Amino acid sequence: MLLTDDDRAMRDGRDGDAVAAAMDLLVRYGEGLGAERLCSVRNVAGTSTQPTPAKEKIAAEGGWNKAYAVINLDCDDEIEIPKMRVPTCQLQHGFSADALNITPYNPHLVELQADAEAFASDRGINILATCTPYQVGNLPVRGEHIAWMESSAVVYANSVIGAKSNCEGTASTGAAGLTGRIPYWGNHLDENRHGSHLIRADVPIDSFLDWGLFGYFAGHVVQEERPVLTGELGLPSQADLKHLGAALATTGGVEIFHLPGVTPEAPSVEAAFGPHEVPEPVAFTASDRRQMYELLNNQGDTEDVDFVLLGCPHASLDQLGEIAALLDGRTLHPGTELWIMTPRALRAVADRNGYTEVIHRAGGRLLTDSCPAMSRTAPKGTRVFATDSAKQAHYLPAILGIEAWFGTTADCVQAAITGTWKGELS
Ligand code: F3S
Repeated sequence: MLLTDDDRAMRDGRDGDAVAAAMDLLVRYGEGLGAERLCSVRNVAGTSTQPTPAKEKIAAEGGWNKAYAVINLDCDDEIEIPKMRVPTCQLQHGFSADALNITPYNPHLVELQADAEAFASDRGINILATCTPYQVGNLPVRGEHIAWMESSAVVYANSVIGAKSNCEGTASTGAAGLTGRIPYWGNHLDENRHGSHLIRADVPIDSFLDWGLFGYFAGHVVQEERPVLTGELGLPSQADLKHLGAALATTGGVEIFHLPGVTPEAPSVEAAFGPHEVPEPVAFTASDRRQMYELLNNQGDTEDVDFVLLGCPHASLDQLGEIAALLDGRTLHPGTELWIMTPRALRAVADRNGYTEVIHRAGGRLLTDSCPAMSRTAPKGTRVFATDSAKQAHYLPAILGIEAWFGTTADCVQAAITGTWKGELS
């Protein structure tokens, strides 16, 4: 791999052992991928605070420097981790102390995470603790190379923002933060960002639910490739785009999509395909729409709902406002819990705006930092849950062994109020 003088100096120890280990990891990783060189990044989103048994064991024996070295740098040496070289943030992790009396999350994991968080903060890692760093001020610019983890965040960054990232991992982001470098391959190269499939909606796509169903379908069709989405599309909101991307990255491994006229690298259908011919479209019909809805609901059997989950990916302020309006003056069913996930920074605004009070008055909970899938936690005794997120409906039944219902945000709030699932596809 071609290294710059600066890369070589880092690898040879100019900036200390941890940076040398980070550069060694990036060179091994890049060579494994066939990358010819590294590129510079100034925005890294990864994880070093999520509590795991392996991390606990290493930290107990060798401290947090050792845990970062082994898990984030693939290095067994005794090294000191310095401050990050470039702006780096922590994505979602487990629940924190303020969720202890609300969720049945293990208090020991909360303590472990708090220790890891103190270590990471000290190294300059911003603890955003969300899968949507772009909602809370961590917004790269179009064309910028970045190193992000979290599939729903990566597809949003590539597609909606026009920044360039592959789906990185714990180790590559751990090394990127310390060096400001990442292998230049995959989505970093312009020629790999053009569309591969044309998917045409023959039914109107103009609601949060429909953007999720459309993404769930298109992910099935394109798998790891790059859909260009056209047809009867309304103008999506930011929440719609989050839901679309998360659904595309659930049934497929989609890391970039194009919406001609909306997303930055697709001023037109032709531009979205670059030098390639525009292929014949795959139609998304009314029957496909129903099929996706039924697929997401075939994990539900019992209409009594114990738990409703909203905010996957983490909810925006607009979504919180909508949920608060639906809950205003209502009270949750006594046997049903409602958790809404949002970034901690937006929770502060929701508190100030009165959304939190309305949600709490109704009996719901506004939670931060994590989600049931990340923390593998739901209210005790949950057998049946409902959600407006295609991603969460897809994964949570397998993770927690529970039934799932999928529908609109209003259907879900109604289920929380009545304790009964009545959602239907209109
Ligand atoms: Fe975020 Fe959890 Fe969904 S991390 S994207 S809320 S599965």
